Amino acid sequence: MSNITEEIKKRRTFAIISHPDAGKTTLTEKFLLYGGAINQAGSVKGKATAKHAVSDWMEIEKERGISVTSSVLQFNYDDKCINILDTPGHQDFSEDTYRTLMAADSAVMVIDASKGVEAQTRKLFKVCVMRHIPIFTFINKMDREARDTFELLDDIEKELGIATCPINWPIGSGKDFRGVYDRQKQEVELFSDTHKGTTQGEVKKVDVHNPEIDWLIGTERKSALEEEIELQDGAGAEFDQEMVDRGELSPVFFGSALTNFGVETFLQHFLKMTTSPLPRNSDKGEIDPMSEPDFSAFVFKIQANMNKAHRDRIAFMRICSGEFKAGMNVYHVQGGKEVRLSQPQQMMASERKIIDEAYGGDIIGVFDPGIFAIGDTLTTSKERFAYEGIPTFAPEHFARVRQVDTMKRKQFMKGVNQIAQEGAIQIFQEYNTGMEEIIVGVVGVLQFDVLKYRLENEYNVEIRLDSLPYEHIRWIENEDVDLDKLIGTSDMKKIKDLKERPLLLFVNSWSIKMTLDRNEGLELSEFGRS
Ligand code: G4P
Repeated sequence: MSNITEEIKKRRTFAIISHPDAGKTTLTEKFLLYGGAINQAGSVKGKATAKHAVSDWMEIEKERGISVTSSVLQFNYDDKCINILDTPGHQDFSEDTYRTLMAADSAVMVIDASKGVEAQTRKLFKVCVMRHIPIFTFINKMDREARDTFELLDDIEKELGIATCPINWPIGSGKDFRGVYDRQKQEVELFSDTHKGTTQGEVKKVDVHNPEIDWLIGTERKSALEEEIELQDGAGAEFDQEMVDRGELSPVFFGSALTNFGVETFLQHFLKMTTSPLPRNSDKGEIDPMSEPDFSAFVFKIQANMNKAHRDRIAFMRICSGEFKAGMNVYHVQGGKEVRLSQPQQMMASERKIIDEAYGGDIIGVFDPGIFAIGDTLTTSKERFAYEGIPTFAPEHFARVRQVDTMKRKQFMKGVNQIAQEGAIQIFQEYNTGMEEIIVGVVGVLQFDVLKYRLENEYNVEIRLDSLPYEHIRWIENEDVDLDKLIGTSDMKKIKDLKERPLLLFVNSWSIKMTLDRNEGLELSEFGRS
């Protein structure tokens, strides 16, 4: 096996998804602690030091005066090289969050034990399902009052439509939390204080058949555990690695990221069950990193204005095969020419560093003089191929936008076009109304403010935004549809994208259903083709 293949085999590239506040940042930070990338968890997060978590890039970078959301943390654990893709949540939730998932080989879903599946988890989860990537569940905050374990598992199965297989089982929760039971090893891992999770902590493990257990967790708790396990063994799905690989079964773990309980066990199991870099589809068939010797990568995110004075951009790419060397020349398939990849960067804990080499599975950011677009392929292969494009995700907020000063039409169009090209917004036009106004769609409402701010500051164009009541957009899959003849509901709006492709805007899902009913054979999709 070549050195390069060996390096690639070591890679584990995954995204962490959660609803805000479920504990994604805390869990990421504990991973870094085990990986030795940081020394003390409390040193990067916690009220005591008032510093921000290492993956809370937005905040850190606001402090430094630049507005970027960087996307990856790399660290080593055991003999694995781990790339964690952070999926920004909170109000800055945007299409970028979805695209990040396109660069991952698997996903870790963090769920708050007192809440179960929440709105944002559901949305991100849909993208993972579309890609059939393995999904691992970490049910967090067991040190707090939690919902019933069966209920939590049921919630995941029903809400997300995926089978679950608990690898461990919680013993109590909140004040009564005693630890977790490892179903395979038949061992109880006892919950203990790790000084609020600042230290790695020694987890005491005791065989469940050891009589000591009775007084360690209490006889009542022990018999409750026995009952629950019996029920689960009888009714639940068995672990099946192939189903995990296909994204049909999610291994579930319980723990408490804050107190650092169950985190390392989770990391160890997860690294065994997850996958090394997966093959990806291209127009020349599947490209497998284990057999394709040449470098290839695709761009999944473009970040503008790393440096305001220069209006430069960074293109983040997922390396799919081969080895990357700083300053190397590669063929940019969509641009049709060779380019030199300069200033390659990678993240290590909170530091952005310039790198010399990277391998399939890694994520790098390179300087973009304005030539790359999302979904572009770069390769050194003689046989040129293009990776499958990244879908356009459905925006959920819409507004009509126009420039206040009509003389500035040109700058306005240039600005919105460039911002759309970076993928922060999607732009549409009126259909047959003769109006010149642009309709902007965004995934997260914060993007409207970003658009206004950027047009004013970078393009010197003041705009007016009038929000529209639509919440759903659908791409029309049928090639030959005549939009004039399409019968919709009275509150439906016909629009087109800049490539003149027809789309429909709806106020609610009822209208979507009515429109489908009224037009036989009409096929609508939530994801657009790029
Ligand atoms: P996020 O990235 O998913 O948004 O969540 P984050 O890790 O920031 O955690 C959200 C809040 O939940 C934080 O509290 C964090 O300390 C707390 N938390 C995370 N994991 C656990 C856990 O296992 N148990 C308990 N009890 N709490 C947990 P905060 O008060 O909002 O922030 P901070 O002031 O502690 O930083």
